[in-house]
Amino acid sequence: MSTLAAPRYDLHEVLDRLEALQVFPDVAVRIHEVVKDSQSTLEDMEKAMSMDPALAARLLKVANSSFYGLNRSVPTVRRAVQLLGFFATRDLAMALAVGSMGRRSTLTGRAVWEHSVIAGIAARRVVDFRTRLDASQAFIGGLLHDIGVIMMLTLVGEPYEVLVKSTRLDGDRLTRAERSRFGFDHAALGGACLRRWELPEPICDGVEHHHVEQQPGPRLLGNQLRPLLRMAAHIAHAMNRVRSAPELAMHVLEHESNQFMGLQEREALSLARMLGQDRSEVRLYL
Ligand SMILES: [Fe+2]
Ligand SMILES: [Fe+2]
Repeated sequence: MSTLAAPRYDLHEVLDRLEALQVFPDVAVRIHEVVKDSQSTLEDMEKAMSMDPALAARLLKVANSSFYGLNRSVPTVRRAVQLLGFFATRDLAMALAVGSMGRRSTLTGRAVWEHSVIAGIAARRVVDFRTRLDASQAFIGGLLHDIGVIMMLTLVGEPYEVLVKSTRLDGDRLTRAERSRFGFDHAALGGACLRRWELPEPICDGVEHHHVEQQPGPRLLGNQLRPLLRMAAHIAHAMNRVRSAPELAMHVLEHESNQFMGLQEREALSLARMLGQDRSEVRLYL
């Protein structure tokens, strides 16, 4: 904890430290090894998953959800791996493992994970609207966009939680506070961590830059996850406020969708309605 009290830490030293402290769930480390080894078989992946039955059960629930659209029931992890493929299974399992870390860390970690799930669902909905981006990558990117926050909560604990709370979960304010205190921010840490895990580069890049201001413009979403993840995170924050101030959430959604995608008010409303319907899916991941 005290190791991070002084500013200007090297990002890779922090990652080394996280690895040395075995902060990452064993199952995630093992899945990474299995995917890296070209000789790995379906059995190896199944065995790796069985190290964490709760994660395997969650992965099955998600594989059976409508998003993956496998159009048949997926009764076993082996079948899920067969249908999704090694890489997609790895990406999803990694994201779910990060969710377990978040849930186990602190109350703030739980809140950050719920926010991440909503961002993941929002990111994939937005993809459906007006982009040629890969919906699975958008979804995984949303789930993982604040992995850096969850890692810092796990590593630093209360002092970092105090910092997060002081920014009221406003990511842009948080990154500024992190940079002045640690010399790096959670987006840079998250992107670097995902690169070590060899997740697809668009996801690493999108996570690394989700707090970088984007120039407004309807064509911005193009083929990059950066603006999409930024937008999805904003939408997730707005959705969180739905109960207390629905009009504020709508305002944010309209503003974001107009700024990033040039959606008309009618389209933004339809997006909001879909996101409202998706809310029950959030529970699958918590
Ligand atoms: Fe963030
Ligand atoms: Fe976020």
